[in-house]
Order: sequence, then structure tokens, then C-alpha cells
Amino acid sequence: MVDISTEYLGLELRSPLVASSSGLTANLDDLKKFEASGVGAVVLKSIFEEEIIRNTQDAIGKMAASRFIYPETMEYFEYDYDEIQDPLGDYLKLIRDAKKTLSIPIIASVNCVSPDGWMDFAERIEHAGADAIELNVFVLPSDFTRTCEENESVYFDVVTKILKKITIPVSIKIGYYSAALGMMIQLLSETGIKGITLFNRTYNPDFDIDTLEFTTSNVLSTPGDLSTSLRWVAIMSNRVKCDIAASTGVHDGAAMVKQLLAGAKVVDVASAFYLHGIDYAEVMLADLKTWMQENSYGSLKEFRGKMSRDKTYNPAAFERVQFMKYFKDR
Ligand SMILES: Cc1cc2nc3c(=O)[nH]c(=O)nc-3n(C[C@H](O)[C@H](O)[C@H](O)COP(=O)(O)O)c2cc1C
Repeated sequence: MVDISTEYLGLELRSPLVASSSGLTANLDDLKKFEASGVGAVVLKSIFEEEIIRNTQDAIGKMAASRFIYPETMEYFEYDYDEIQDPLGDYLKLIRDAKKTLSIPIIASVNCVSPDGWMDFAERIEHAGADAIELNVFVLPSDFTRTCEENESVYFDVVTKILKKITIPVSIKIGYYSAALGMMIQLLSETGIKGITLFNRTYNPDFDIDTLEFTTSNVLSTPGDLSTSLRWVAIMSNRVKCDIAASTGVHDGAAMVKQLLAGAKVVDVASAFYLHGIDYAEVMLADLKTWMQENSYGSLKEFRGKMSRDKTYNPAAFERVQFMKYFKDR
């Protein structure tokens, strides 16, 4: 028997496979299915900062006083508002119900763009019993009014504020747009957060060449999307002061093994569950165990980080040499 338990964000997980935040982690029935199929933890579907502000009594005043950066996104939550009477209450109820029903850790998630207007709700998430909170900090470089420093300071402002507000472990899920990504991840890991998820997968718009309409393409990842997160997990593991969760493009047991070899504490998976069903987790975990047996590993720590690039003094120089090696004469 191999031991696939792991510690993540200071929590004990029975396996390194985490159900990533998505529509599949938004209701209790699916959460039960995830637990039954062996995942180590679930990250609930995110609640949006706009949703929290919209449903907080003095929303307008709070927005005006806050550094809320995208007022136009509030309009989105005007739609259907009457259909969902109490999204905040529903979110807290889901946490309470999940905690009552399941034994695996429940990680709540807030998708935010600023540190203002939603911190009191984070406190309510903690009181509802969430074991940890993952913040999907949604900073996009396509805003022409904001400098690089302004964009990156959002991460640090959010983290500084939430760490003063709540005591449960905090992790942050980030995108890979940054001119100095390695240093930024390192500095973030030194703030007191317990984990960083590499990376969020942003929506990439496409368009139809006949109708000239925008389309929603590539909502789900493909196995080929693994390479960016794999590369950065390998570069950053053992260079940070918190756990790393690998997200994007993990579609099978082999990809999970790769991320663990690169140094991830856990892998977060969404698209593969949309494509193959929630019980596909069993297949992925069985493949992980088989690989461990075949390679004579009894536990994850015996191989985690074996393919980390922490011994490379300067990964940037190493990558430039690799680039020259492959492309110079082709
Ligand atoms: C339909 C769908 C909904 C998602 N909703 C959320 C969300 O609410 N919050 C979040 O942090 N990530 C969300 N994600 C992103 C996933 O958690 C994950 O980071 C991303 O899809 C990359 O992992 P994957 O390659 O396994 O899909 C969503 C992904 C999908 C496909």
C-alpha cells in the first residue's frame, strides 16, 4: 500500500488531488461525489467581490469610498438579481452544510479585484466553518489606466488586509502575467499566506470569422495547457515560503505525477472533471498509486520536488541557453 496523504495549507489531506473551484463545486450533491471519489479537498465555486458588494446594504457608499477598480462589472450582477434572493446567505449555507456533511477540508473562494468592500464577508466565511480561503485575485494587464506597480500592489494589499481579518489559512490564486513573476511569487510567499495556486486560467475570447461575433472558446483546458504551470511550479518550488498548488492542464494521473515531481503540494483540477465526470478522480488517483508502486515510492514526500529546478542558480539564464540550443540552427 502506498501513502498518498499530504499536508496542504496546514491541513491534512488524504490525497493530493483537489477539486478546483468551478461550477462543479457549487452544490452539496457534487461535493459529496467528490468526497466519495477520493479527492483530498474541495475549493468551492468563487463568490465575486462585485456580488458581495452588491448584496451588502450600503453597497453604493462602499463602492464610492473603496478602491473598487471596475464599476462596470457591477452591472453584470444587476441581471438575475431577483432570481437569487440571497447569494451571500446561500454561500455561507453551502459552507455550513458541507462542513456538517463532509470530512474533507472545505476551502472557500473569493474572486476579487481589490482589498475593499468584501473583507467583512471573509470573516463570515471563517465563522461559517471554512477550513481555508483561496483568493482568486483577478488582475489583468489589459487595463491601460494602470501601471505595472499598481496592478501588482493589488495582490499585496489584498493579502495584507485579509491576514489581519481572519485566522484560517489563506492561499492566493494568481495569473502568470507579470514582468517579474518569480520575484513576485517569492515576495507573496513571504507575506504569511499559506499557499499560492499557479495558475488561474483566464477566459480567452475568440471570434467567428463568418459572423464576426465573439465566442466563448476554450473554457475548458486541454492537456497541452499543462506546460506553463509545470514550468513555474518547477522553478518556484523550494524557493517559496508557502505551499504551491498546481492548476491548469492536469488531465490525468501522469500530469499529476509531473506536478508533484516538480514540487507541487497538490494539484487543482476542474476541466478533466467536466470532461470525464467527477468519479474520474478515482482513475487519476489509481494511476498515481500504480506509478508510485512501479517506481517503488511509498509516500509522496519520497519523490515530491525531484524535478524541481531549485538547484538552477538562475532559471532565466538556464532557459535562455535551452532556447538557443533548440532554436539557433532551425
Ligand atoms: C466552468 C469553470 C468555472 C470556473 N469557475 C471558477 C471560479 O469560480 N473560481 C476560480 O477560482 N476558478 C474557477 N475556474 C478555474 C478553475 O478552478 C481552474 O483554475 C482552471 O480551470 C484551470 O484548471 P483546469 O485545467 O483543471 O481546468 C473555473 C473553471 C471552469 C472550467
